[in-house]
Amino acid sequence: MNDKNFSPAAEPRKVHVACVIDGNGRWAQKRGLPRTEGHTAGEEALAEVVRAAAARNVGWLTVFGFSTENWVRPRPEVRHILSLHRKIFGRVDEMRRNNASIRWIGRPFKEKGARTPVYVQRAIDKAIADTAPNSGLVVTVAFDYGSRAELARAASRAAAAGPVDPTSIEKNLYDPTLPPVDVLVRTSGEKRISNFLLWQINGCKVYFTDRPWPDFDAAELDQALALLDGD
Ligand code: FPP
Repeated sequence: MNDKNFSPAAEPRKVHVACVIDGNGRWAQKRGLPRTEGHTAGEEALAEVVRAAAARNVGWLTVFGFSTENWVRPRPEVRHILSLHRKIFGRVDEMRRNNASIRWIGRPFKEKGARTPVYVQRAIDKAIADTAPNSGLVVTVAFDYGSRAELARAASRAAAAGPVDPTSIEKNLYDPTLPPVDVLVRTSGEKRISNFLLWQINGCKVYFTDRPWPDFDAAELDQALALLDGD
C-alpha cells in the first residue's frame, strides 16, 4: 500500500453531554426511603454514567451536582449531598481506570458569596490534581454553581479588561476550555431548563426523560446521544 495515499477515516468528533440531575428525592419517596437514599443512588448512577460515557464517543460529561440555590434545603440533606460530593471526587482510582479526569465549576472558593466548605474544596483540589494525567473523558462537576452568577462575573471581569463581547465573556467563564454542549439531559419528567450552563447550551439538543436520575443508565445515554445522529 502506498502510505502517501492512505488517509485514515477521520476520528469521530467527541461530544459534550451535560446532565441536570433531577428526581433523586422522588425516586426514594416512591420506595418509602428517605430522600438521602435517593441522593446516594444518584451518586452511584453518576459513577455508572461515567463508565458508559468513557466507553462511548463522549469527550466531556458535565453534571449539575449542587446549585447556588440548593443551600436552602434542610441541613441534614445538604450535609448528605456534600458527603456524596466528597465520595464522587474521591473516586480517583475508578477515574484512572476510565482514563477520565475530574474538573469543577462553581463560585470560586475565595470569592464573596461562595459557600463550598473547606473539606469539599480539598476533595475537589485533590481530585483535579490526581486525575489530571488522564487523557480521555473530562468529567466536570458543577458545585455551588449557578449560570447567572457565572455570567454576571464573566461580564464584569470582561468589562474591567476592555470591550464586552461574546469572546471576552467566554474567556471569563469559570472554565473557558469547556466546549459548547451537544446534548443536555434532564431527568425525572421536568421539561425545563435550569440555571445551568446557559451560555454553553446555545444550540444544543435536549433529551428529556421521565426516568429519575438514579435510573439513568447506559441505554438512556445512548438514546440521548442518538439525538446527534446525522449531525
Ligand atoms: C436533584 O434531585 C439532586 C440534587 C440537587 C443533588 C444531586 C447530588 C448528588 C446525587 C450528590 C452526588 C454528586 C453528583 C454530582 C451526582 P432532587 O432532590 O431535586 O429530586 P426531587 O426533584 O425528586 O426532589
